[in-house]
Amino acid sequence: MLNIALPKGRLGDQVYALLAQIGYDCGSIYEQNRKLVFESKENNVRYLLVKPSDVAIYVEHHAADVGIVGKDILAESRPDVYELLDLGLGKCRMCVAAKSDYMEDKDRTLRVATKFVNIAKDHYAKLNRDIDIIKLNGSIELAPILGLSDVIVDIVESGSTIRENNLKIIEEFMPISARFIANKTSFKFQNETIRQMVDKLSMVLNQIEGR
Ligand code: PRP
Repeated sequence: MLNIALPKGRLGDQVYALLAQIGYDCGSIYEQNRKLVFESKENNVRYLLVKPSDVAIYVEHHAADVGIVGKDILAESRPDVYELLDLGLGKCRMCVAAKSDYMEDKDRTLRVATKFVNIAKDHYAKLNRDIDIIKLNGSIELAPILGLSDVIVDIVESGSTIRENNLKIIEEFMPISARFIANKTSFKFQNETIRQMVDKLSMVLNQIEGR
């Protein structure tokens, strides 16, 4: 049986629809209950519903064979997994943003609030810019508003959160989308099953995008 780690939340619904298109229907996932494991005997798969930021952890540690996860999480946590396919879902971009009247002072250490500590450090290391990181876990946009940081490094999807909190985007530096990943051992021993899944996903994506 193939264990598939799927993200809960906004990316989840798009992922379930895509899986249904390749015959891996996870219909009962839509039921409003607190179940976290769903089995499809027909396809010989088990779906595990996990927090988006935990998908790669389940796959890396072989609690799941494959999973679907945002590139932001992969870039941040750099798990030892195979990244097999860009699904083109959940598209957004990693940005630097600040209050709309923010003016940078290059002589001062920049205070950066973010969930993505490694991504932010890498970004500013490339720019040779000294920073202090303030690690937050959510509602990052509050940090510059309250003077906790000068800027934030965060994902922007529709741009509503930035707009509605009177912030401005200063830089966009990393396009993000959902990726299909596999555990390295599973890829070796369940290669045929995983490859077939990747092929089917590629076919459906090509049809959708006409590529
Ligand atoms: C993410 C991100 C931004 C927002 C961007 O937060 O951290 O706050 O979405 O989306 P938008 O451009 O469409 O407004 P999330 O909704 O995951 O919640 P969080 O604040 O708890 O991290």
